Amino acid sequence: GANHEPIDPVRFIGNRSSGKMGYAIAYEALLRGATVTVITGPAEVQPPVQSTVIQVQTAQEMHDAVMERLPTADVIIGAAAVSDYRVDNPATQKQKRNGSGMHLDLTENPDIIAAVGAGKKPSQLVVGFAAETNDLIANAQSKLKKKNLDMIVANTVGTENSGFGAETTDARFLLADGSIEEHPIMKKSELAEKLMTRIVDLLVSKAD
Ligand code: PMT
Repeated sequence: GANHEPIDPVRFIGNRSSGKMGYAIAYEALLRGATVTVITGPAEVQPPVQSTVIQVQTAQEMHDAVMERLPTADVIIGAAAVSDYRVDNPATQKQKRNGSGMHLDLTENPDIIAAVGAGKKPSQLVVGFAAETNDLIANAQSKLKKKNLDMIVANTVGTENSGFGAETTDARFLLADGSIEEHPIMKKSELAEKLMTRIVDLLVSKAD
């Protein structure tokens, strides 16, 4: 899902993530017998009832919730649309119009999946997403490397049939060994199925 970064007690900066992709992955992992924790910002859909759900609002809260549970996780999947920025010193009272516009100073939030990638144990598998409007493969490859991920799901965003809020997704899997697995546009639940199969393969080869 999204993050909500407060501007004042009634306003926030957010994004269009619905939670559909992340929750589809959680559901598929449960079907495969995993114990699943969903650390989620505000979303339009309901997380699977069999998962442990940790509700957060901001990227910093999401970061802290992830770090707390990280030591016991075998697989960490970053499908959330984490807010890259937060508002400096959000106002404690609702801001009034004053006829001269509003100026917000923004600070960078921590990069959660990069912190997970940097500190991962050899047994842990870390999967990120890359949400791109252009240069999909090049941008995703750069994120895969920079964030020390085992795999990244590169998906197109900003089109009707892929990305934020859509029922379907236009995605491919990029692996740390440089290989790319192409997929046609499909339902997010179908992509979650393919993703989990790939993750199981990677876990098995890690264990060998
Ligand atoms: O929720 P839906 O409506 O179903 O939409 C699904 C989706 C488009 C949100 C999903 O498929 C997706 O692409 N999620 C990742 C969105 C994103 O933030 O992408 P990014 O390219 O900006 O970030 C790259 C990776 O770093 C992601 O794994 C992201 O979760 C992670 N990140 C980014 C910023 C940050 N501060 N911390 C992070 O962990």
